[in-house]
Amino acid sequence: MIGRPRVHLRRTDSTNERARELANAGAPHGTLVTAGEQTAGRGRQGRAWAMPPGGGVLMSLVLGEWSAALPLAAAVATCEALPLPARIKWPNDIWIGGRKVAGILVETRPQDEWAVLGIGVNVGARELTAGATSLGLEGVDVEAEEVLADLLEALERWLRRPTADVLAAWRERDALVGSEVRWAEGRGTATGVDETGALLVTTTTGQIALHAGEVHLVGP
Ligand code: BTN
Repeated sequence: MIGRPRVHLRRTDSTNERARELANAGAPHGTLVTAGEQTAGRGRQGRAWAMPPGGGVLMSLVLGEWSAALPLAAAVATCEALPLPARIKWPNDIWIGGRKVAGILVETRPQDEWAVLGIGVNVGARELTAGATSLGLEGVDVEAEEVLADLLEALERWLRRPTADVLAAWRERDALVGSEVRWAEGRGTATGVDETGALLVTTTTGQIALHAGEVHLVGP
């Protein structure tokens, strides 16, 4: 069962960092680290992840076994756990109404047989950066602990599902499909994800697959 044992810290630098330490020290599959506040929360692509103290779920899970579909499965589970309809903005930002409500950071160390799955969900937070939202701002009054419980339950199911099921569920929640997107080197129309989770984009010169990085919706 994931989520046990659980270490809760009132304040820490990054729950992913604490989970990595525990993983390196031999913590079992499913070990959970949560915090009320992070002083150096990490996001994808070397960015920071900021949330006001007590503003939501800050969690990291130590996994001793996982599949290549882990980031996709985590995004589907996070959507499913939220009390409002949510979509996934490739690769795994979780959006409500076009604003980011949750972020996912997967760090793996296959040679040491662990992965750390970090998820932040803005629950009650009200002061957020542009482009972000929270369940509270969207009108839902819920405790972070309730969201965490639903998230663990959804992860328990989705981390076991076959990749084909995960992909199908991911595609149903794809926020970009059919939209004009741009990235550092170009722009085109997003047409979905392939079986590796790469973003497929049709450009003026043909279809390409983006494997990593950042894409942005092109505004109207
Ligand atoms: C992103 O959207 O760029 C990923 C954000 C991931 C944030 C979570 S909060 C809990 C865990 N600890 C961290 O330092 N990062 C992840």
